[in-house]
Amino acid sequence: MFLQILLACAVQTVYCVQNCKELPVFSPSPLVVKHGDPAIATCSICNNDSSCDYELRLEEPFQASVKKGNQMLWNVPNMTEWSLQIYCFIFDTSCTTSLEVIVYQPPEKVSVSFRKHSGRLLENPSGPLEEDQLYCLQCEVEAVAPAQNMTVAFYRGLTELSVMRSSATDKRPVNVNLCLNHTVSRQDHGATFWCEARLELGPEGPQPPPVVRSHNITANVLYAPCCEGQEEPQILTVAQGASVDLVCSTQGNPQPLYSWSHPLVSGFRGDVLTIPSASSQHEGPYTCTASNALGAITRSFTLRVHVDYVPIIITVVIAVVLLLGAVVAFVVYKAFYKPHRTGHYHISNMFRLQRHDAVPTTE
Ligand SMILES: *[C@@H]1O[C@H](CO)[C@@H](O)[C@H](O)[C@H]1NC(C)=O
Repeated sequence: MFLQILLACAVQTVYCVQNCKELPVFSPSPLVVKHGDPAIATCSICNNDSSCDYELRLEEPFQASVKKGNQMLWNVPNMTEWSLQIYCFIFDTSCTTSLEVIVYQPPEKVSVSFRKHSGRLLENPSGPLEEDQLYCLQCEVEAVAPAQNMTVAFYRGLTELSVMRSSATDKRPVNVNLCLNHTVSRQDHGATFWCEARLELGPEGPQPPPVVRSHNITANVLYAPCCEGQEEPQILTVAQGASVDLVCSTQGNPQPLYSWSHPLVSGFRGDVLTIPSASSQHEGPYTCTASNALGAITRSFTLRVHVDYVPIIITVVIAVVLLLGAVVAFVVYKAFYKPHRTGHYHISNMFRLQRHDAVPTTE
């Protein structure tokens, strides 16, 4: 009999509802329940007005309904179905309401990886990636239900790159793989990528909505050494005896190797060539080559060593001033000081001599 009502209502929904003064009402509606959790719903009519004595019935697969006053309670200790149909109807009429039930399960696992655009795996989830190539940043969501309530957000660091939805309509848990096209740049090297799956279950669903995050992957982008800083030949002028650095440092992945061409430093493999005390033998052109498996760049330097005359001039001037001072001092000493001292000496001597001479004379 119930099926007939359903069929009649399915064919003529408007007729069905129009002939009902009152319709049963479910609470909550929709019913959102996590798979395995208890589920409770109530069907009532006329806002629980007791003068309205329609007899309600529930049609549901669990046989878990009880009558309470003029309400029908439906209570299952654990939701084991993924989809189910529950109808509440006024007995012996076609006045029927169906309950929308959303059985959900947050993803068991969410993982992120870079893939070749063909979908093929790379050496590992984070690469290695080639610069300027298009890759698929893939978010794999395992065992989520219902997939159509899920959104997947892709992130680079804290920046949301994109939000996607699955087209799956299964009520049962499914695996969902979503792919974001991403052209890799060298700025992506070392950046963090991740994704998260959110189940958007509406106001009757859990608050906040369930979110499952992937691990972070750190992009490994291969790129040739390149051209930050000077590309023009650098001319370095340095005083003789001074220290000078020729800086060839550059970025690249894998780490660039350096080599230098100048007879004095041909074995040197560092990125900064330091000449601690420049002399004329260090003068001339230098080239540095920074290379890795993806390419190489060359930088040129020209070193000029000049003798700095200023300290020499200052030394000479000081020497001349000191010499002049010494000469002046000597002349002054000769002209005034020495004769004065000599005169004093003579006078006292003379007194002494006079006294000395006078004594025997008076005796
Ligand atoms: C992943 O990276 C994001 C952004 O850089 C950061 O906020 C978050 O803490 C990281 N998570 C883990 C598990 O390291």
